[in-house]
Amino acid sequence: MIDNLIKKHNEIFEKTHNYVFFSPGRINLIGEHIDYNGGLVFPLAINLGTYGVVSLRKDKKVKIYSEGFSKKPYIIDLDNFTKEGPFYTNYIKGMIFYIKEKFSNSQGFNIYIYGNIPAGAGLSSSASLELLIGVVLRALNNLEISNKDLALLGMRVENEYINLNSGIMDQFIIALGKKNHAMLLNTRTLEYKYAPFDLGENVLVVGFTNKKRTLADSKYNERFNECKEALEILKKETKINDLVDLKIEELEKYKDKLTNKLYRRVKHVITEQERTKKVFETLMKNDIKKLGKLLVEGHRSLQYDYEVSGLELDTLVNEFVKYGALGARQTGAGFGGSMIAIVPKKELKEIIKKVSKSYKEIIGYEADFFDVFASDGAKML
Ligand code: GLA
Repeated sequence: MIDNLIKKHNEIFEKTHNYVFFSPGRINLIGEHIDYNGGLVFPLAINLGTYGVVSLRKDKKVKIYSEGFSKKPYIIDLDNFTKEGPFYTNYIKGMIFYIKEKFSNSQGFNIYIYGNIPAGAGLSSSASLELLIGVVLRALNNLEISNKDLALLGMRVENEYINLNSGIMDQFIIALGKKNHAMLLNTRTLEYKYAPFDLGENVLVVGFTNKKRTLADSKYNERFNECKEALEILKKETKINDLVDLKIEELEKYKDKLTNKLYRRVKHVITEQERTKKVFETLMKNDIKKLGKLLVEGHRSLQYDYEVSGLELDTLVNEFVKYGALGARQTGAGFGGSMIAIVPKKELKEIIKKVSKSYKEIIGYEADFFDVFASDGAKML
């Protein structure tokens, strides 16, 4: 496949390529919607992602071509930077803009971009693109910037350039993912450790609902603001920095200070934090059965307390569990997008066949399924 991408680059830009880069997508095993609440998250970088085939230019222009976005190349002039442009260019321009603040990044280049994460699938195609551009800029300009700092810049692009209050999870795992490992990340301190990701006789399947959405037009910011509001109320009652600092018993004590909606949002955050710790332990002990159960519990919490799943995701989760998955849950922000399931290798084909059929009957259109495995973070190939 890479040869084919190189060929395309060379044809489109009428130039021989110099480098190839790959930036993964991500799934989150558990720890959902708590990275903006100071929580622990447990994601892994996946084998699906974004490729960038690059050649150097003599001028100070960045010429972008991606069939997924537009049939016409888009040119960014590094000397005459403007913020305006089609939506997808925000991810690219945002990275260029924030890196420019700290370093001189004047090397012009052509880039042929190819992504195999379906858009709107909730597998972080946007963070994947941000980090792709981050590692390209670093390599071409010899910048001294760590993966962690590139991840933080990616988050700034979301928060300040695009105005989405997302947390650090996606960019962090995409920058620092490790083959065959998941990462337990403390989103408050940014301390992290890797856990070998081995499901034994089982495989990890991603089910994409084909209900597409962008986070910008979802209720993501609404949830962020609800958590902020709850935190302000609870801070008057007890000494906490983030919602994850609260114990569930304390929440019960302060229940009448919150509306029922805010109470349920906080309940999700607190219980999700506990589940994430348990999922980490069960993976380390290879207790995949217990891990599966925790994933389903996590999904129910997103479904009923945090209210971010929806009929399509709930249907996929329910059908996977019904037909023999050890566990299943939404992954990422929700509101459509994708879910994950842990399925016995031997029954994989059979289970997917049954889930596919039921999903189509209930929802009216097909879901897509991918086998995924844990990959390295963004890098030059
Ligand atoms: C999106 C955001 C992340 C995180 C997840 C939900 O992927 O980009 O920061 O909040 O949703 O866990």
